[in-house]
Amino acid sequence: MTKYLVVGGSKGIGAAIVANLLQRDCEVVVFSRTKPEIESIVWHQIDVVTTNTFPELNHLDGLVYCPGSINLKPINRLSTDDFLNDLTINFLSAVKVFQQYLPLLKKSSNASVVFFSTVAVLQGMPFHASISAAKAALEGFARSAAAELAPLIRINVVAPSLTDTPLAAMLLNTDVKKENAANRHPLKKVGNVIDIADATVYLLCDAKWITGQTLHVDGGLSTLRV
Ligand SMILES: NC(=O)c1ccc[n+]([C@@H]2O[C@H](COP(=O)([O-])OP(=O)(O)OC[C@H]3O[C@@H](n4cnc5c(N)ncnc54)[C@H](OP(=O)(O)O)[C@@H]3O)[C@@H](O)[C@H]2O)c1
Repeated sequence: MTKYLVVGGSKGIGAAIVANLLQRDCEVVVFSRTKPEIESIVWHQIDVVTTNTFPELNHLDGLVYCPGSINLKPINRLSTDDFLNDLTINFLSAVKVFQQYLPLLKKSSNASVVFFSTVAVLQGMPFHASISAAKAALEGFARSAAAELAPLIRINVVAPSLTDTPLAAMLLNTDVKKENAANRHPLKKVGNVIDIADATVYLLCDAKWITGQTLHVDGGLSTLRV
C-alpha cells in the first residue's frame, strides 16, 4: 500500500489532504500537536519546532509538510524574533523533517514531496515581509532539492492564496472580511481546503512528470488583473 506522511494533517488543508489520501486507500501517518478527528490513520503527537528526532517509519512514498504561519505586520514592527519564528515553522522545520526521512524516501520507487508556500511570494503584498521571506526560502530550497534528487524524488510546492482554515480564521471572521477577500480574487472567492488538497494530492500522487514546480492555487490572484 502507498504510504504518505502528512505533517500537520490534523486541521485545515492538511486534514483535507489526509481525507483525500484515505479515499485513495493510501496508508497515512500524521504528525501534529493536537489529535486529528479523522480515524484510520497512524498519529504521532509531535511539535515539529521542538522535536529533533522523528519516529522511525518502515516505508514512505511521500511527504507533505503543512505547518505555517500568518504574521502580518508593517516592516518597522517586525523584530528579529518575528523573522526567526516564521523561518523556523515554515522553512527550517520543513527541512528538518525532510532530511530525516530522505533515506527512506530514496527507497521508494515513486517518491514525492510537497511543501506549502504562499501567493505572497510571487505577488508583493504589504505586511507580508516576514512570511514571504520564509516561504521564498522554502521555494528556493524545494527547487534546489528537486534538482539534486531527480530522478529519485519529485519535489513540488503549492502556493495558495487566502484559504478558509483555522490559520486564516482571523482574516475571515466576519461577512465583510469574507466578501472583501473574495472580491480581491479574479475567481471571486477565497480558497477552500478541498481545492488546495486536490492540487496537492495531484502533485503528490499523479504528476509523474512534474518536479521543481510551484503550483499557484490562488483564484488567479498572483497572475491576473481583471
Ligand atoms: N490558509 C491560508 O490562507 C494559507 C494561505 C497561504 C499559504 N498557506 C499555507 O498552507 C499551509 C497550510 O495552512 P493551513 O491554513 O491549513 O494551516 P492550519 O489551519 O494552521 O493547519 C496547520 C496544520 O499544521 C499543524 N501544525 C502547526 N504547527 C505545528 C507544529 N509546531 N508541529 C506540528 N504540527 C503543527 C496543525 O496542527 P496542530 O495545531 O494540531 O499542531 C495543523 O494540522 C501553511 O504552510 C500555510 O502557510 C495557507
